[in-house]
Amino acid sequence: MEPFLFASEAFLLWLLLAADAVSAFPRPPQRLGAQKILHDTLSLPRRNLTLPVHDPAPCQRITELERNRKGYLYGRSLIGDSSYFISGELGDRLIKEHLDLWYRDAAWVSEAVENGSRAVAEAVARGGGLGDLASYELLYRDQWQEVNPAGVAPGVHTNYTQDLFFSMERLSANAFSVRRLHPTKDRLPFAVEESIVQKLTGLSLSTLHVTGRLFLSDHSYQLDYLDTLSKGRYSAACSAYFYIHPVSNEFLPLAIKTNVGENLTYTPLDEHNDWMLAKMLYNSNDLFHGQVSHLASSHAVAEIVHQAALRTMSKSHPVRAYLDRIMYQAYAIRPVGESALFSNGGFFDTVFSTTNPAVRRFATKFYPATVGRFRANYLVSALESRGLINCTYGPALQHFPLFEDAAPVVGAMRRFATSFVDAYYLEGDLMARDHELQEWALEATGPAKVLDFPTWPLMQKETLVDILTHMAYLTGVSHHVLNSGTPCTTTGVLPFHPAAIFQPIPKSKGVKSLLPYLPDLGTSIAQIGLFIRFNRAKLIDGRGCLVNMFSDDGFLHGQPNEVQKAAEEFKGKMEEISKIIRGREFDQEGKAQGIPFIWRGMDPSSVPYYLSV
Ligand SMILES: *[C@@H]1O[C@H](CO)[C@@H](O)[C@H](O)[C@H]1NC(C)=O
Ligand SMILES: *[C@@H]1O[C@H](CO)[C@@H](O)[C@H](O)[C@H]1NC(C)=O
Ligand SMILES: *[C@@H]1O[C@H](CO)[C@@H](O)[C@H](O)[C@H]1NC(C)=O
Ligand SMILES: *[C@@H]1O[C@H](CO)[C@@H](O)[C@H](O)[C@H]1NC(C)=O
Ligand SMILES: *[C@@H]1O[C@H](CO)[C@@H](O)[C@H](O)[C@H]1NC(C)=O
Ligand SMILES: [Fe+2]
Repeated sequence: MEPFLFASEAFLLWLLLAADAVSAFPRPPQRLGAQKILHDTLSLPRRNLTLPVHDPAPCQRITELERNRKGYLYGRSLIGDSSYFISGELGDRLIKEHLDLWYRDAAWVSEAVENGSRAVAEAVARGGGLGDLASYELLYRDQWQEVNPAGVAPGVHTNYTQDLFFSMERLSANAFSVRRLHPTKDRLPFAVEESIVQKLTGLSLSTLHVTGRLFLSDHSYQLDYLDTLSKGRYSAACSAYFYIHPVSNEFLPLAIKTNVGENLTYTPLDEHNDWMLAKMLYNSNDLFHGQVSHLASSHAVAEIVHQAALRTMSKSHPVRAYLDRIMYQAYAIRPVGESALFSNGGFFDTVFSTTNPAVRRFATKFYPATVGRFRANYLVSALESRGLINCTYGPALQHFPLFEDAAPVVGAMRRFATSFVDAYYLEGDLMARDHELQEWALEATGPAKVLDFPTWPLMQKETLVDILTHMAYLTGVSHHVLNSGTPCTTTGVLPFHPAAIFQPIPKSKGVKSLLPYLPDLGTSIAQIGLFIRFNRAKLIDGRGCLVNMFSDDGFLHGQPNEVQKAAEEFKGKMEEISKIIRGREFDQEGKAQGIPFIWRGMDPSSVPYYLSV
């Protein structure tokens, strides 16, 4: 009993210290009971929707828009330099409203995570502590049930040492960092010993390259962040090759180069511990990438397009209503991020190896270069440009879970957006005569500085459908496959995905034990707690989940029958997809979608329809 009490007390002390370090985390005004949250506010207030050309009271609309242009202003970007953050008198009011909504949800999650942290610390102590890799499972088994009811994805703890597990995470849980190398336009960024490549693949590195079978995930840009490391924490800046095996056609890892210190290159032919460490170093870099890029790719983009709409379209405009609906609570996230997650000594600094300046540098660099570009990140375009689908210079991927699951969801979003646009723009020239819509497009490409937005004037219904589909994709798909429930179920699960590394990166191979590199009990619980804070268990199967993105009385009030019908169809399709995803099981080979774990990150009944955190 003694050691157990001691461990538990030490942990409570740690909790207090950690809580102090992150005291900037916004607290709700009062503690709310677990049941008293979600989601009486989720409905969009009723409006009478009309295009400006049909509005019987055009003067009121003009007055409203004058007020909006004065009241919603473009302010300083938050968390690095990406898109403007909203400001002005009306903007500030909206932020406050959204923060209030956000706290209502977060209050319960926070409290439950704190309770869960205590329970886990006791369970691990009872189980003998974190003495080996297997014991990290104690951090999850029968824990966190309220806040993460789905638990860790099936197969994660049993199969994480398999190479296919590691490689297929690149095509499911974070499919945004890997690309296929082009045979002529891309050069090989690093060499791998030829005998090893031959032994693993039966081909040479250059043959893999010219036949379009070689892929790269490059986190070497993280070298620029190494001056931000926390004391006692370390990081590599890995680049990794993956390849399509010429016989099995499986997508597998080939090599990982650390890019730091002795620049060691690891391969699956290394000793077990060395190769495992290399994969963990990579995972740590990739976790940074997934978590930080989601900020600039979903929040920063969706917000700025919506901000342009707030200034140019009346509340009565159907397109504005569509955007308002999916931008529920969205303006809470960047301020909360700024003040608690990425503040000095905040959650990010507590959990990751690098500290918050790295996050700001990443956003500043990658927002204009890649992730902030509107059209370039349409689902199909983004995957095509990285050679993952419709590739003309190499074989197709045998399995691509992200695309398999996201494509039908985005297809359904497109069908809804098409019905929506068709229902309002009945005649050919109505879009041209809709001066609010045109002002929006002009504003977006002009003062709002949305990058790579479709050009003004906005004349084609198809283009408007693309925009609305992409906005729904940003708030209902791309955000959640990276953030929300993803890190707590897959990409951030210990011991394989440490957010921080606690030993210097080795100068030579032959590492004896992986344990010293991994977070200890307190830091492990902090990592898990942070990632669970991104999850929103209370909205599973409820009004806030993706199934109900368009099925909302307030939003549908007074809308044409075609829109009502399209919302029903969308809902039906999401329920169907959810059933498939929830029913997914391991096949005889112990895989699902070709991967040795069950990926449910895209379940429309479990992910929010909005930018939840
Ligand atoms: C919508 O229009 C109806 C009829 O003109 C009116 O009675 C109602 O107040 C309007 N609702 C809103 C929210 O403006
Ligand atoms: C946290 O634990 C306390 C004390 O057991 C309990 O009263 C409270 O309801 C728990 N909170 C949540 C959100 O589970
Ligand atoms: C390791 O590689 C990085 C990036 O490729 C380079 O900047 C660095 O100089 C190299 N260091 C050594 C010791 O070779
Ligand atoms: C790209 O791939 C998708 C899915 O496989 C397919 O539906 C689409 O038609 C392809 N597009 C082109 C241009 O080949
Ligand atoms: C993955 O783990 C599950 C148990 O969680 C097991 O049934 C399955 O066979 C494993 N798959 C492989 C490929 O080992
Ligand atoms: Fe987010």
